[in-house]
Amino acid sequence: MTVLEAIDVTKQYNMGEVTVSALQSVSFVVTKGEFVAVMGPSGSGKSTLLHLLGGLDEPTSGEIALAGHTITRLTDDEVTVVRRRKVGFIFQFYNLVPTLTAAENVGLPLLIDGQKIEKHKEKIENLLKMVGLAERSGHKPDQMSGGQQQRVAIARAFVNDPEIVLADEPTGNLDSKSGTAILELLRESAAMLHQTIVMVTHDPRAASYADRVVFLKDGRIVQNLTIADKNGASDDIRSIMRVMRELEL
Ligand SMILES: Nc1ncnc2c1ncn2[C@@H]1O[C@H](COP(=O)(O)OP(=O)(O)O)[C@@H](O)[C@H]1O
Ligand SMILES: [Mg+2]
Repeated sequence: MTVLEAIDVTKQYNMGEVTVSALQSVSFVVTKGEFVAVMGPSGSGKSTLLHLLGGLDEPTSGEIALAGHTITRLTDDEVTVVRRRKVGFIFQFYNLVPTLTAAENVGLPLLIDGQKIEKHKEKIENLLKMVGLAERSGHKPDQMSGGQQQRVAIARAFVNDPEIVLADEPTGNLDSKSGTAILELLRESAAMLHQTIVMVTHDPRAASYADRVVFLKDGRIVQNLTIADKNGASDDIRSIMRVMRELEL
């Protein structure tokens, strides 16, 4: 089943006299339960692509269909509703609200959607348990390590049972041990909960946890690589690095 489809997506940023072409003719499909990594050097269009896929920004041309909704044909208000109900976001710098506890941060997407938090207490507890932070539910972000904050952010991304989780460099700010814990969590949720995930990264080790890797260069998809082991195996990391060398990424 197709969860996400991008068709011939182009994005240009107009900056006065200069036009920056961030994405050119990007097409791809993500099916239910797939964990896809998008790789490319800095400036290749990874974040732009993720923002378009999640309805945070609009393409210059092309169509994006998310969970059966062609978001490129909806009004801004309609896109906002689709995004709140169908998408979970994970960012490099966690983006937790500093004044809220871990549990309150996890519940925030439901609150923003106008739902009653009391009804979801158990779900929030279970998500914190899933990310290994059951004991920290009352802690504020500044009382937690970076890896713990990112695990709170993952619980938050899952709280609305999203059709797709979009992660932008989720391990980019973490040491290798905390990063591995995050990647294993994403891997397990894709395998066990059939959670569909698109993760942007420039790290071959992070990408080696995905089912496949889409390579971006200068705003174009230039290669697709299927990953064998999907658990950070050194053979997979080596194949990813070989493709990067071949494509001069
Ligand atoms: N808001 C913006 N305004 C103008 N140019 C932008 C904006 N966002 C990104 N760009 C440009 O688009 C290109 C792709 O950027 P980005 O998607 O952030 O790449 P990546 O995430 O792979 O580093 C770059 O040339 C960048 O400078
Ligand atoms: Mg980026």
